[in-house]
Amino acid sequence: MTDLAFGIDIGGSGVKGAPVDIATGESTAARVRIPTPQPATPSAVAKTVRDVLDSFDLPSDVAVGVTVPAVVHNGVTRSAANIDKKWINAPAQDIVSDACGRPITLLNDADAAGLAETYYGAAQGQPGLVIVTTLGTGIGSALIYNGILVPNSELGHIEIDGMAAEKRAAASIRTAEDLSWNAYIKRLQTYYSTLEFLFSPDLFVVGGGISKSSEKFLPFLDLRTPIVPAQLRNQAGIVGAAMYAHQQRKG
Ligand code: BGC
Repeated sequence: MTDLAFGIDIGGSGVKGAPVDIATGESTAARVRIPTPQPATPSAVAKTVRDVLDSFDLPSDVAVGVTVPAVVHNGVTRSAANIDKKWINAPAQDIVSDACGRPITLLNDADAAGLAETYYGAAQGQPGLVIVTTLGTGIGSALIYNGILVPNSELGHIEIDGMAAEKRAAASIRTAEDLSWNAYIKRLQTYYSTLEFLFSPDLFVVGGGISKSSEKFLPFLDLRTPIVPAQLRNQAGIVGAAMYAHQQRKG
């Protein structure tokens, strides 16, 4: 019998969901994607999450995990760097659960990606400290120590030269400032050297859309910590959310 859970990833442009077999981390059906409503307030997005769920005939006892690009503390979203400001201090887990008519578990998007890489991807079986970073619109991070997630690390917001790191080194900044790979690599070097100095991790995993071009930048970073591309690509949020909800359900 498959151990099934459902993952939903709330992104800036789309809300995507699929059922996931927890034993393998594979989706058991094609994912459904609905454009993110604008403005992307918690209540509008919650309805879209419900619509994604309603596209599947899901038994009521299946655990549902939902990612959001914000700090999630005890079900309350506490930040909104790249989403609608109404998420700040919103009881978002309750808002989404109420809209869906079933309990859902909310977590940070990068934390979900980190869990997915730990259980099914690039950090499988890695002891010690793994730092997963996602380079996208912003920079997300997950800290995983011996397989256990330390949530809400927000390492995209550490300040380097007086600026939040994600305002210098997110993938979106490379595009917005039309940076050459060389110029972008310099910024990544500063970022990852700083993380290495602060945390002495055992492995860095780099995710986000840009990780499919990892050969353009990862080999040029000078670090003592191994640094590898993420393996789950755009499924990481869905898979990690499903995995987390399943774990929480089991206690
Ligand atoms: C947010 C994080 C999020 C990351 C990636 C950052 O701006 O503060 O919570 O994980 O973007 O979406």
